[in-house]
Amino acid sequence: MKILGIESSCDECAAAVVEDGSRILSNVVATQIPFHAVYNGVVPEIASRKHTEWIYAVVKESLDKAGLSPGGIDGVAATARPGLLGSLLVGLSFAKAFAWARHLPFIAVDHMLAHLYASQLAAEREAPPSYIQDGAENRSLPSYPFLGLLVSGGHSIICRVDDFDDITVLGATIDDAVGEAFDKVSKHYGFGYPGGAVIDRLAGTGDPNAFRFPMPNLYKGDHPYDFSYSGLKTAVINQLEQFRVKKAHGTAGGTDESAYSKADIAASFQKTAVEILLRSLLRAAEDTGLTTIVAGGGVAANSCLRARLAEQRHLRCIFPPLELCGDNGAMIAGIGCRYLCRGDRSPLSISASARVNGFKRKYP
Ligand code: KG4
Ligand code: ZN
Repeated sequence: MKILGIESSCDECAAAVVEDGSRILSNVVATQIPFHAVYNGVVPEIASRKHTEWIYAVVKESLDKAGLSPGGIDGVAATARPGLLGSLLVGLSFAKAFAWARHLPFIAVDHMLAHLYASQLAAEREAPPSYIQDGAENRSLPSYPFLGLLVSGGHSIICRVDDFDDITVLGATIDDAVGEAFDKVSKHYGFGYPGGAVIDRLAGTGDPNAFRFPMPNLYKGDHPYDFSYSGLKTAVINQLEQFRVKKAHGTAGGTDESAYSKADIAASFQKTAVEILLRSLLRAAEDTGLTTIVAGGGVAANSCLRARLAEQRHLRCIFPPLELCGDNGAMIAGIGCRYLCRGDRSPLSISASARVNGFKRKYP
């Protein structure tokens, strides 16, 4: 079964064809980053306009690369939630029109569930799925239940996963998403946009112990696995000197600030951001007894997060390949195939939603 998947929830205009839920035949991602970089963040109006301009060409290219005409497609999937409403509507409307015109089954899917599904996709011509910490010999699909770690620019969720479409949120950020914190810190320091990849790269040459930033303490209460990024973000942005770790002789760590600070700030921030996630995630693993963790979303590309999880030898940690961590159409087509194979269909009257209940904590 060959499924066309369309993703337009934010600033990537993407389409892909996936066969039988796992084999990627094509995966086209047209990024709008240069158009938003000048504003240091996604401008929703520009995003939806670019999607409108590009969607036809992106879908056409995905069909061409798969070696298919529209007649070779068996079903269509598109992201319907969560995301930027105007952007979502472009891909969703295009997908519905494609399905209607070709008399094809159509399914509207959830972006975050699709991120979770990404690690089940095999790269083109590569037989088994996903990157796994133990290396090539341990590549089998995880069996349910397992823990999901969904970390993107809009959401940060720790969940119990009982099926590809069945998650229970155990913990979530109570304010900023982790990717959002990377983006905002990067914006403040003028490191570049989007911030995650830039900070990850800068951190490679920095000292992660140059600054000791505060970890939020949300242990108590009804949601023991919740976490927060607002305090870390504010600390990194506003009160840098206060957090500088003093060297033995009592002076600030180093002299030529312009030469080393960027990397040190990036490394110290990144380390703390990852530790915040890990603290809740490892506690959730211990309490639930679940020993497999599947990650997804743009922040799952982070090298520090991958390295720290790889150190947890008692856990099996599965990440999507780097190119499938960020937004892409393959994850939409892949999960779409699973729904369609089960007989699920969405009505063409379905609309987009910016939010999904339960994905973000609402505190009084
Ligand atoms: O999943 P995604 O592509 O889009 C959303 O659904 O939001 O995630 C984008 C987020 C951005 O905040 C970006 O800065 C972050 O993922 N990101 C990273 C890395 N690569 C992308 N964050 C940390 N380290 C990275 N290597
Ligand atoms: Zn995403």
